[in-house]
Amino acid sequence: MEIGKTEPFACEVYMTGNITGVTTDHTVTDNGSVVFPQDRSCPYQPPAAYQPLRDERPLARVSLYDGRTVWMVTGLAEARALLADPRLSSNRENEAFPSPTARFAGVTRRRTALLGVDDPVHATQRRMLIPSFTLKRTASLRPRIQETVDRLLDDMVAQGPPVDLVSAFALPVPSMVICALLGVPYEDHEFFEGQSRRLLRGPESADVEAALEELENYFVRLIDRKKKERGDGLLDELIEQRLNQGALDQQELVDFATILLVAGHETTANMISLGTFTLLQHPERLAELRSDAALMPAAVEELLRFLSIADGMLRVALEDIEIGGETIRADEGVVFSTSVINRDNASYEEPDRIDWHRSSRHHVAFGFGIHQCLGQNLARAEMEIALRSLFDRLPDLRLAVPAQEIPFKPGDTIQGMVELPVAW
Ligand code: HEM
Repeated sequence: MEIGKTEPFACEVYMTGNITGVTTDHTVTDNGSVVFPQDRSCPYQPPAAYQPLRDERPLARVSLYDGRTVWMVTGLAEARALLADPRLSSNRENEAFPSPTARFAGVTRRRTALLGVDDPVHATQRRMLIPSFTLKRTASLRPRIQETVDRLLDDMVAQGPPVDLVSAFALPVPSMVICALLGVPYEDHEFFEGQSRRLLRGPESADVEAALEELENYFVRLIDRKKKERGDGLLDELIEQRLNQGALDQQELVDFATILLVAGHETTANMISLGTFTLLQHPERLAELRSDAALMPAAVEELLRFLSIADGMLRVALEDIEIGGETIRADEGVVFSTSVINRDNASYEEPDRIDWHRSSRHHVAFGFGIHQCLGQNLARAEMEIALRSLFDRLPDLRLAVPAQEIPFKPGDTIQGMVELPVAW
């Protein structure tokens, strides 16, 4: 292979076209610019249309659905530098903030706690939540995660194959865990899982906006109830220690609850479903993992790098920034394709290969800088426990239908499987 050049993204299963709710029907504009975002043609490979951009590292120009041209960052070192640069803003109320697709245009402009604000407001918000997401606090949740995973596997075994792994396992594991952490009644899961699905994959912007409103109204009611009768969870702590002291207002608390609930279950659920699918498609890697349980933490890190399910962070430049031989001008939009960034061959040897023994550290699957994922310790613990227990308990796990028939998610949202029919 020529130095600096990369092989095309190879997919052993050739799944082109099995996407529910396609993002765009064209890969390049009339003037030859690549359109962002694109759907993947294989669930575990970056979109094929990004292939030429990878050879143009570290920055390329791409077109958004509304005809706007923005920068797409594809180099790992530059992505880390830019994500840590305060001249790039996450403030969604900025008129120049980019929207990935028409259906997200309305919510992209909406107030969003943490993810949508810059420092110093961001730092104040994040400080209130950090104690609940430290390594130590997450470690104390491990027995509870294990218990949840074991119970769900018992139910799956009792039901017998075939089973949809997404609804029976990948979604309920993080959903139950985030409910317990926040103090949200899991009995309401059909409501909030449905609304999160609509928020992240609703066909029209009206669906997306309505889902966000439904979730916010739900939390207004829940917080009112909790004010009268204290429960046990992070929301209850925030009411007692912050809201009642005037250090947090009700709207901010609703925004915290919404982002934590949605980010807390949708992301990890997709890593569990897509991680399982990818392992089943790479039996030699799965066998290696099963032969040495100590590999699991490194495997989770490598799967995070390889799958890069949050494939499109967005920013807007507040000032001119010189980087990688280019100048990002003030008010220009910047998008980060984590799937391409995390396959940078200047940082990883043979980046398109899954390798449990490489150091996957420094990937940006959880972002980087001040917005780096707050729930990353929790997500790692959930993935480790879920994947280890699943393959220990069901060593003969296999797809119940041909891989090509399994629907996966469109490119403008968190990547993963819509359903994953399995047997054992
Ligand atoms: C494998 C699972 C996960 C992945 C891949 C993931 C990915 C990400 C990424 C890429 C960001 C940065 C976005 C940006 O900079 O624009 C982020 C931020 C965030 N994530 Fe996660 N996440 C995961 C799990 C979780 C979980 C379990 C929680 C909560 C319990 C969570 C809560 C958050 C929050 C609150 C932020 C915003 C942080 C801030 O702005 O300070 N995430 N996540």
